[in-house]
Amino acid sequence: MDVFEAIHTRQSVAKVKPDSVPRELIERALSAAVQAPNHYKVRPWRFVVLTGEAREKLGSVMAAALQEKHPDFPPEAFDKEKSKPLRSPVLIAVGVDKPSEAKVVEVENICASAAAVENLLLAVHAEGLGAKWRTGDPARDPKVKQFLGFEPDQYLIGFIYIGYPEFELEPRERPSFEDRTTWME
Ligand SMILES: Cc1cc2nc3c(=O)[nH]c(=O)nc-3n(C[C@H](O)[C@H](O)[C@H](O)COP(=O)(O)O)c2cc1C
Repeated sequence: MDVFEAIHTRQSVAKVKPDSVPRELIERALSAAVQAPNHYKVRPWRFVVLTGEAREKLGSVMAAALQEKHPDFPPEAFDKEKSKPLRSPVLIAVGVDKPSEAKVVEVENICASAAAVENLLLAVHAEGLGAKWRTGDPARDPKVKQFLGFEPDQYLIGFIYIGYPEFELEPRERPSFEDRTTWME
């Protein structure tokens, strides 16, 4: 699959099989991720790969965070939250380093990390895996960040859910660039 095909056929895959994914495939995708451009070569991305029981622990932290914010929610809401990380066999949380020097701009670190996520999404797609980038309240929760080893003021830009697609997705109409592009000569 060439790069254009990968870009034009990638879609978020919400439903994946529980089958485990070989570590080599995840390593290859991470290696692709870190080829992203990044200003001052700071490599601001941080990946936490969760498999097996680590996903259950994350689910417990997410459920506790939800309960703290919304103690009035019914118990089923916390059960549902707890089970979310089990939606895929592999979950990669992506954090962003805070600038370590005055010249480094935080938003540029976020941009670079987002570019790394796109590389990751394309790489897993090219490997026949499916992935979905998710955020939601857990991505902004200090306890969730702490569990993953991030500081409370560090950006956690996503949870990338990865696994073998449950079924083949229909090709869909692709977005166009025309209405978002101005040419200046
Ligand atoms: C920063 C970011 C956060 C996202 N968070 C969520 C999310 O919390 N839940 C979700 O269902 N999709 C989330 N998505 C996925 C988008 O909804 C999805 O990419 C979009 O619908 C386009 O679909 P596609 O990926 O199939 O092209 C997120 C995407 C990005 C870039």
